[in-house]
Amino acid sequence: MTEDIDFEIDPENLPDRVDRDKPLGAPSVVVDDLHITYRVFGARRSGTTKQRASLWDKMVSLGRPDTGPITEVPAVRGVSFVAHHGESIGILGTNGSGKSTLLRAVAGLLPPSSGRVFTSAEPELLGVNAAMLPRLTGERNIMIGGLALGLSTKEVKENIPGVADFAELGDFLYLPMTSYSSGMASRLRFAISTIRTPEILMIDEALATGDASFRKKSTARIEEIRGQAGTVFFVSHSLASVRAMCTRALWIDKGVLVADGDVDEVADLYHAYVEGRTDASSGAKLK
Ligand SMILES: Nc1ncnc2c1ncn2[C@@H]1O[C@H](COP(=O)(O)OP(=O)(O)O)[C@@H](O)[C@H]1O
Ligand SMILES: [Mg+2]
Repeated sequence: MTEDIDFEIDPENLPDRVDRDKPLGAPSVVVDDLHITYRVFGARRSGTTKQRASLWDKMVSLGRPDTGPITEVPAVRGVSFVAHHGESIGILGTNGSGKSTLLRAVAGLLPPSSGRVFTSAEPELLGVNAAMLPRLTGERNIMIGGLALGLSTKEVKENIPGVADFAELGDFLYLPMTSYSSGMASRLRFAISTIRTPEILMIDEALATGDASFRKKSTARIEEIRGQAGTVFFVSHSLASVRAMCTRALWIDKGVLVADGDVDEVADLYHAYVEGRTDASSGAKLK
């Protein structure tokens, strides 16, 4: 399989393992038989020749807006789980398996096609596409991001030095983000999203570009959030980071939850699957 997954990181660069013996709090996220189906309009069926509509099809579609054929993509299929306060949960699965879709649905950004999602607070999703305005300076982005999180102008201003320091911006704070390295931008995104300790934090491959020292720092911050009874969801290409940072893991394959359990057990099964040693049915052992 040609997946871009790191299994090992130099142990020196790995954050300390999180404490897994902490007792869990009340449920923070309940996902009940969730299905998310994307409807893609105007998609063409695969094939080299353009399909010509029959006379009948043309008559039936007379007067309707021409949206073309609709393709349904079932991205999440019947996923159920309960997350608790004080848990950090890794989400594993190959590309296109539905991880981002699941997180976006839990964050309330995508309506379920069927099934339900309950959360104890509004989750904060930190993704690669977190809204940042690249032509504005880091300082302006901190301002906008902080206000979007519901802080007052005064509160954001007080937080600017701390955020800039965490993100190691130095004088770049006053330069447009177009001049930032990808690592710098990702540090800033992380620092902004965690200005206010979120009750439910979801990280979708957003720490990938960080270097070792930032990984340590962000892990410490995530642990702090979890310690304050938060729930953290973590998607990463680095299986080693998932093992270090999470207490539990969900493995999603083609939209189906195939395993849910202790992070090491699920990561072992997933690792074997990605290396082609087993198929996704191996996850059933843990269910
Ligand atoms: N906006 C969208 N419209 C249509 N299909 C989508 C959209 N976003 C994702 N998909 C499809 O849904 C499936 C799951 O994608 P995604 O949730 O991004 O997976 P992952 O994050 O695990 O890589 C894939 O088949 C992908 O092509
Ligand atoms: Mg994704």
